[in-house]
This record gives sequence, C-alpha cells and structure tokens, in this order.
Amino acid sequence: MTKGRVVAGIDGSPAAEIAIRWAATEAAARGAELHLVHAFVWPLFNVPLGASELAPGLRAAADRIVRQAIESAEKFEPGIAVEGRRADGFPAPVLIAASADADLVVIGSRGLGVTLGAMLGSTGLDLTANARCPVVVVRPDDTTATELDALPGPVVIGYDGSSPSLKALDFGLEYARRHSLPVRVVAARQLADDAAGDPEAELRTRYDGDDAEIVRVTGHPAEQILRLSADASLIVLGARGRGGFAGLLLGSVSQTVLQHATRPVAVIPAAAAGG
Ligand SMILES: Nc1ncnc2c1ncn2[C@@H]1O[C@H](COP(=O)(O)OP(=O)(O)OP(=O)(O)O)[C@@H](O)[C@H]1O
Ligand SMILES: [Mg+2]
Repeated sequence: MTKGRVVAGIDGSPAAEIAIRWAATEAAARGAELHLVHAFVWPLFNVPLGASELAPGLRAAADRIVRQAIESAEKFEPGIAVEGRRADGFPAPVLIAASADADLVVIGSRGLGVTLGAMLGSTGLDLTANARCPVVVVRPDDTTATELDALPGPVVIGYDGSSPSLKALDFGLEYARRHSLPVRVVAARQLADDAAGDPEAELRTRYDGDDAEIVRVTGHPAEQILRLSADASLIVLGARGRGGFAGLLLGSVSQTVLQHATRPVAVIPAAAAGG
C-alpha cells in the first residue's frame, strides 16, 4: 500500500459522526486517505428503490448520507483526502471487505438499529471478529473524541503474553507515539501462578520513551482493564489471547471490554498485517 487508508463505516447516526471525526483525526495523523463507506442494505430486499410519491428514494437517501459524511470530514479535518461511497450489502460484510485494503476501520459502537442496553451492535461484533486490519470502535456519547488533544489520557494496552496481545502492544505504542500520549500496559492475572509472559522485556525492545507504565493486577482481566481505562485515550486489545477455543475469533476479554468500555477500543485481529 503506497498511501495509508483509514476507513470509517457510516450510517447517518450520531455515533457514525463521532466515528467520522475520530477517523479523520487519525487519517491526518497518519498522512492517510479517509474512505467513508455506507453499506446500503435495501437492494438485498425486494423493495422499490427509486423516488415515489411517498418517499424521495432510498438510494438518494443513502447518497445523501455519503455526501454529508464527506462534507463533515472535510470540514473537521481540511488537510486530508476524503472519498465516500455506497456499497450494496449488510454493514459487517461490506466493512470486512473494505478492511482487506485498509490500515484501520473505525465504526461507532451503536448505529441506527439500537437494541436497548447493548453497547455494541452486531456489526461491531462481526467486524471486530472478522476484519483483516485493526478496528476501532468509538462511543456514541464520547464528547472527547472531538477534542482528542484535550484529553491526554493514556493508551491502555491489554497484555497477556499471547501473540495477538503483542500485536496490540505494537499498535498501541505506535498510536501513543503518533499522538504523544502516555502508555499503560495492563497485565492481569486471574490466579497468582498464572504465568503471563514478560511485559517488561516486550516493552523494552519496543519502546524507548519514558512515559510507559506496566500495571500488574490480580483479578478478572476484562474487569481490571475496564477499571484501569476510565481515562484512556484508547484501549487496545488483541482479538484473541492465550485461552479460548481454537475456532474462536473474538475472546471473552475483548468482547466484554467492547461491550462495557466508555472509551474508544481498538481490536487487533490475528489476521491484521503489522500495526
Ligand atoms: N490477563 C490479561 N491481562 C491483560 N490483557 C488481557 C488479558 N487477557 C486477555 N487480554 C487482552 O485481551 C485480548 C483478547 O484476549 P481474550 O482473553 O479475550 O481471548 P482468548 O484468551 O483467546 O479467549 P478467552 O480468554 O475468552 O478464553 C488479548 O490479546 C489481550 O490484549
Ligand atoms: Mg484469555
């Protein structure tokens, strides 16, 4: 890939607006292009898509979502190259396909199909489990996403000694460097004799700054990560860890943190190339 590409999934919802801004900020920081993708589901159903006496046309409405998203991104981050498109299909498969030639995909935790109480929609779960690149899930009520610099909270990285968590470490450290943020590596142990790699050594070979801490705690990993990330600029986890079933795409720690975090969460899939 010559120039980097950040993709944001858009659906005209307020959460998507936060995703657009987060993605635009990150595209600018990376010197990457921003691609705004709207999954248009209606062609999959047998409905008339054109304008009628009753409605201006679903396709026209979808194109308006794309147009407004482009305007919003360009206004928010004038220096970046922005493209937008409508792609026929359900959001998760459309964004999974887009992830194949992206460096990062950004989505809101909730879209228009709001299920009461749930923090992460089905798109988020499906995408974080199956994406080919890292995925960032932002929060709909995240006012600080629009003023990232106003909240220089740490990048919180979950480390369990697994190779996906090392990818999370790489991604988190790069993000922290790019945005001049402190780093907090959390290594949680359920049991005192539960060996969990050597976070000091892993950090030493990757980081030469002086603003990183390693927090070792005993307790449930997801609970501890949530507790230690209330002020995080970003939480970074591997999609999988050391446990779980062979075929599992998203571990229980990642799922729980995605469901309950109040801060943006980056999930690094095993299939992601580099950071
Ligand atoms: N003990 C831990 N301490 C810190 N971070 C952790 C810990 N366990 C998991 N994580 C983080 O969560 C990510 C996903 O791991 P998770 O535990 O969810 O998957 P798994 O081990 O494959 O499955 P499961 O634990 O549900 O059986 C890891 O890559 C790591 O970033
Ligand atoms: Mg685990």
